[in-house]
Amino acid sequence: MPGMDIRPLIASPDTRAQLADLLIAVVAGGGSVSFMHPLSQDDALGFWDDALAAAADGKRVVLGAWDGEVLAGTVTLLLDCPPNQPHRGEIAKLMTRESCRGRGIAAALMRAAEALAVQRGRTLLVLDTASDGGAAGLYEGLGYVRAGEIPDYALKPHGGLSGTIIYWKRIGGA
Ligand SMILES: CC(C)(COP(=O)(O)OP(=O)(O)OC[C@H]1O[C@@H](n2cnc3c(N)ncnc32)[C@H](O)[C@@H]1OP(=O)(O)O)[C@@H](O)C(=O)NCCC(=O)NCCS
Repeated sequence: MPGMDIRPLIASPDTRAQLADLLIAVVAGGGSVSFMHPLSQDDALGFWDDALAAAADGKRVVLGAWDGEVLAGTVTLLLDCPPNQPHRGEIAKLMTRESCRGRGIAAALMRAAEALAVQRGRTLLVLDTASDGGAAGLYEGLGYVRAGEIPDYALKPHGGLSGTIIYWKRIGGA
């Protein structure tokens, strides 16, 4: 994508602050990414500090899409699967800053995460998304196969239950 730089994130004061701001804004906007609104800055920073520490240990990759100095979006590739699932990875925490949406940033982040997963020898990816207000259409457009839906799986950020839809995709020519 022209002008967009996608790369793995490492812990720096600016990156952790931008990640925290992004997460707080996405949750406030109703995005189902595991948290309730209002999400405090401390909790958001704590989440990303743990995530970036796991990334430094090679257990996940946190990718960022940069529009100049602005972190426009992020996605996480979870690699820390059980010993009997060395071929599998999980996609989590896909989010695009509201002012940057509709420009293909999430799709580009997903493709970059898939390429990384293939590089790491993964042949199967799984993910889930909220039935109510999630990103099912985006994932289906990228070739993810709907495995099924679990009703009343989680609370939405502003309250009320939503189901979750589980998706999978074979990658790397598997
Ligand atoms: C979902 C989200 C990441 C999409 O970000 P984005 O950068 O605007 O997405 P893109 O511009 O890359 O969209 C790629 C394609 O998916 C489609 N799409 C985007 N969001 C969608 C959604 N919520 N539902 C269905 N389709 C969607 C777009 O129309 C586009 O389709 P096209 O290729 O046919 O034009 C963003 O809306 C967001 O951060 N939402 C809140 C957090 C969230 O729900 N994350 C998903 C958690 S599982």
